[in-house]
Amino acid sequence: MNKKTGGLAEIVAGDTSISTVGKEGLDLTYRGYSIHDLAEQSTFEEVAYLLIYGALPNQTDLKKYKEKLISQRALPDALQVVLQAMPASTHPMDVLRTGCSMLGTLKPESSENEEHAVADRLIACVPSMLLYWYHFHKNGKKMNTDSDETTVAGYFLHCLHDKPPADEQRRAVDVSLILYAEHEFNASTFAARVTTSTESDFYSAIVSGIGTLRGPLHGGANEAAMKLISRFKTPDEAEKTVRNMLAHKDKIMGFGHRVYKISDPRSDIIKQWSETLSHHAKDGYLYAISERIQKLMWDEKHLFPNVDFYSATTYHFCGIPTDMFTPLFVMARLSGWSAHIIEQRKDNRLIRPDANYIGHAPRPYVPLIDRG
Ligand code: ACO
Repeated sequence: MNKKTGGLAEIVAGDTSISTVGKEGLDLTYRGYSIHDLAEQSTFEEVAYLLIYGALPNQTDLKKYKEKLISQRALPDALQVVLQAMPASTHPMDVLRTGCSMLGTLKPESSENEEHAVADRLIACVPSMLLYWYHFHKNGKKMNTDSDETTVAGYFLHCLHDKPPADEQRRAVDVSLILYAEHEFNASTFAARVTTSTESDFYSAIVSGIGTLRGPLHGGANEAAMKLISRFKTPDEAEKTVRNMLAHKDKIMGFGHRVYKISDPRSDIIKQWSETLSHHAKDGYLYAISERIQKLMWDEKHLFPNVDFYSATTYHFCGIPTDMFTPLFVMARLSGWSAHIIEQRKDNRLIRPDANYIGHAPRPYVPLIDRG
């Protein structure tokens, strides 16, 4: 791998007015608003509206937007059939990838179902998709998508556990969705923009994003981090094993970042929630284990936790199964992907970079008969 050109590091690949990532002293902002202010004072629905519609909603806009999301949670019958047909062993990210693709055949993008409507429907019904599949295969139940919960976070937790969540858990997930909603030209968003740039449809771009987010170097890191943290019973045990992993040049998922060099501004915010929830969790000791891993990674490698590391224990303390962590990232990032698809379309040019050729020099063709 050519370290200089590999992974498009530090290459500016286009313009955006959606977010700034903390480069050159800038904060992480969504349409100019600091992530700290949004995580403190806003809700995921306000942030999704901000990203997709370009401005913070007023009270009437927000009420209408939330009503719209609530009204679109139901799953078409044909999609329910597909979810039932998927094996119980399917990874939930594959459930979402296939479910969104199926939805695209049932409610295709058209002049009557334009891009904003598609984005809203996806945000509304992706939690239903995941939890319908989950309850059908785990409990043999066809989940009812009617719910009194008015937020994505509350709806997800209530449907998952079949009872209203504690307010603290509802807000922790809500904040995590805000933090996960958008992050400039990250890999999955870039994939969605590349697909959009060919003038493909909205669902195809979203499915590209889901497939790209799945990997452990990107969104899949929150699941990988949880699998590591939950191996340990004490901080000392964690330190010993992680030290050994570093000696073997293993990557510790949930650490490091392509853009940030000293810290990820989202990490401290979600870490706070992990700590708060740990006080009421039966395995709250996992928080102290995470902190020890954080300290070791900084002391040994000068690597800091990214948003995925403490999201893992935050979700775990809410009783969320580990393989639903990256799907929660999807539920949030649908808003950012949608904003980028809409932006790419406004000023589109096919995204098609050059490659540095490192293959064989030109040579004469050898006919099959002469190749032995
Ligand atoms: N654990 C151990 N070493 C690491 C880690 C890590 N998590 N991250 C980077 N390094 C080391 C690399 O081994 C490499 O060392 P070397 O120069 O001796 O070979 C050096 O730091 C540079 O790392 P790269 O992987 O080349 O950095 P890059 O910018 O390409 O990758 C990435 C960034 C993918 C995030 C990387 O830090 C990583 O793999 N982290 C773990 C996965 C992860 O947490 N992903 C989530 C990212 S945030 C998000 O997507 C929401």
